[in-house]
Amino acid sequence: MELRIERDSDVDSWKEVILIYNSALKQISTKLEILNDEFQHVHRYNPIEHIKSRIKTSESIVKKLKRHGYESTIQNMVQYVNDIAGIRVICSFTSDIYRIAEMISNQSDIKVISVKDYIVNPKPSGYKSYHMLVTVPVYLSDRIVDTKVEIQIRTVAMDFWASLEHKIHYKFEGNAPAHIKNELIECARMVSELDAKMLSLNDEVLSLSEREENT
Ligand code: GTP
Ligand code: MG
Repeated sequence: MELRIERDSDVDSWKEVILIYNSALKQISTKLEILNDEFQHVHRYNPIEHIKSRIKTSESIVKKLKRHGYESTIQNMVQYVNDIAGIRVICSFTSDIYRIAEMISNQSDIKVISVKDYIVNPKPSGYKSYHMLVTVPVYLSDRIVDTKVEIQIRTVAMDFWASLEHKIHYKFEGNAPAHIKNELIECARMVSELDAKMLSLNDEVLSLSEREENT
């Protein structure tokens, strides 16, 4: 399985496409870092714990195109594969997720293509996260390319759950035994409970310190 790259010009356009996706990732990362710094400055608090980004491998791109019945061409990958550039934002609290999502949407050069709120509507597996598909303009020497980036925003606890579930899913090639799947669903419920408790605890402490500051 390979992307159809036969001529020298195909190699060039492959390299150029990857360069553009990498630039888009850099732009979104920088925007998020700036928002985090500004938030620290204004509220003395960092909504972002950490950020991970990745470019999808050519093998995964080809697999996805095949799964959806498309030929493996550069044009199809740009058109149909939305998660070639992916960025994951890990926060402490669920409220931070929506705060970050809103701050991203408010940036005038970012276009939000679609949003999937798997926190309000978790997947049957128990998966929770907030997904945004956005485009960001990448300025090249001779043109501007609106480039798609998939942003996944989740709490530390949601990320912990997703990492283990992903490992298990991979190990059993998607057919994990029923009791393991059920345990994962139970863990997902505990993650939600933990996130809710940590948030209310944090809110309580915040309101106490605000009261102290006002007296
Ligand atoms: P993909 O073909 O997997 O990209 O799915 P999609 O195009 O329907 O998008 P969706 O928003 O459902 O999921 C995209 C990404 O979210 C995946 O590539 C994973 O990183 C993550 N994800 C979605 N569902 C699950 C899940 O059940 N478990 C874990 N661990 N991750 C998930
Ligand atoms: Mg994906």
